[in-house]
Amino acid sequence: MFNKEIYIQRRTKLIANFNSGLLLFPGNLESPMNYADNTYRFRQDSNFLYFFGLDEANHFAVIDLDHKRQILFGDDYEIDDIIWMGPQPKMLEKAASVGITDVEPKARLAEIIQQALDKGREIHFLPPYRGETKIQLAELIGFRAAQAREKASEKLIKAVVAQRSIKSREEIAEIENAIDIAASMHVAVMKACKPGMYEYELAGALEGVALGAGSSLSFSAIVTHNGQTLHNHHHGNKLEAGRLLINDSGCESEMHYAADITRTYPISGKFTEKQKAVYNIVLKAETEAIKMIKPGIKYKTIHLAAAKIIATGLKELGLMKGNTDDAVEAGAHALFFPHGLGHMMGLDVHDMEGLGENFVGYDENTVRSTQFGTAYLRLGKELQTGNVLTVEPGCYFIPELIDLWKSEGKHTEFINYEKVEEYHDFGGIRIEDDVLVTETGQRVLGTPIPKTVEEIEAL
Ligand code: GLY
Ligand code: MN
Repeated sequence: MFNKEIYIQRRTKLIANFNSGLLLFPGNLESPMNYADNTYRFRQDSNFLYFFGLDEANHFAVIDLDHKRQILFGDDYEIDDIIWMGPQPKMLEKAASVGITDVEPKARLAEIIQQALDKGREIHFLPPYRGETKIQLAELIGFRAAQAREKASEKLIKAVVAQRSIKSREEIAEIENAIDIAASMHVAVMKACKPGMYEYELAGALEGVALGAGSSLSFSAIVTHNGQTLHNHHHGNKLEAGRLLINDSGCESEMHYAADITRTYPISGKFTEKQKAVYNIVLKAETEAIKMIKPGIKYKTIHLAAAKIIATGLKELGLMKGNTDDAVEAGAHALFFPHGLGHMMGLDVHDMEGLGENFVGYDENTVRSTQFGTAYLRLGKELQTGNVLTVEPGCYFIPELIDLWKSEGKHTEFINYEKVEEYHDFGGIRIEDDVLVTETGQRVLGTPIPKTVEEIEAL
């Protein structure tokens, strides 16, 4: 946990946005896997972690703006719990560690909320993403659980997004700790990968590195020789020489800040000329996009610049044709690069995505595109000093998409389908790093991980 002053300052800053009412923060509950006592690994809600620090189930917090109270709700463990769980700190001690002195048993929460409702006071809460949190909020405030996200407070969402989007020195250090562990995960897999292994052996090896460093994964790893499937969590294939392995994986720091890194390399250890040519296009898109990052530039501008680099490279290979600017404007590049260039990263790997992607990545000056491909860009708005984001261009040959577009005669002025057929079984390439926006530009965070053709082949 950070020093309690950090949590006190974060709450003080949040409170400055409001005059009255209640700010309600549900912590996460344990989540049962197949029966109540057999739970998934506990993951605290990131907003609760950010403002209240406690990494345990069964808490609620309320900031009562009118009575100037900051209350932590929870119950002390009884001896029946302690014989199973071991000694546990008291609620008052836990609260003190994050700068709170006002503690109430969980049963008091409903009373306090009811009193506020009776007086017509506003209750602000963030959009819940877990069913049990929706049910809790619905029962406390009085609506149907299915309405819980729409009843959330836009004012609170905007205040939290503004605050969490700018990372402090301590947060950046945590993110770099996570990336350093992720670097070891990636290098371990690069070294271990060889034809004949199963994807799950590599997935197990990388998760083992994370767990062995006291960490855990920040999302389900993508470790596959079918990288053309963007979020491929299937790890059952036997690795074939001649194919490329995509490893898109990351882990969490001790305080749950994320890393999110992708590397792609030949399973045999050596790129073919065909693979090398496409790889270097993606690498150029990634490194040039990183160089463009600075405060004030829209990430959508960088996304489109990366798309043009990919389209230009594919034109040189004969896969695309015509005017590159027109091709990208029309969205033809999205046959090969059908996702966004990146997203914010912090306590969540897609930071604050639970609060609504458009609140995090767009604003009144940057409207989200509806065009296939660019529509998936999670972050489009102007960058600010202190943002941490991913840069992750890719180039994929998705047989089902190629066949569909070809049958529809889509973008035939920009796509040379005859040549694309030669790449039908190529797979996919993605390269991803995590970048801090600094006052003067940017800094790639963490230990460098082999990325050029030469670095990868040398390993
Ligand atoms: N690392 C997976 C993603 O960013 O969607
Ligand atoms: Mn990512």
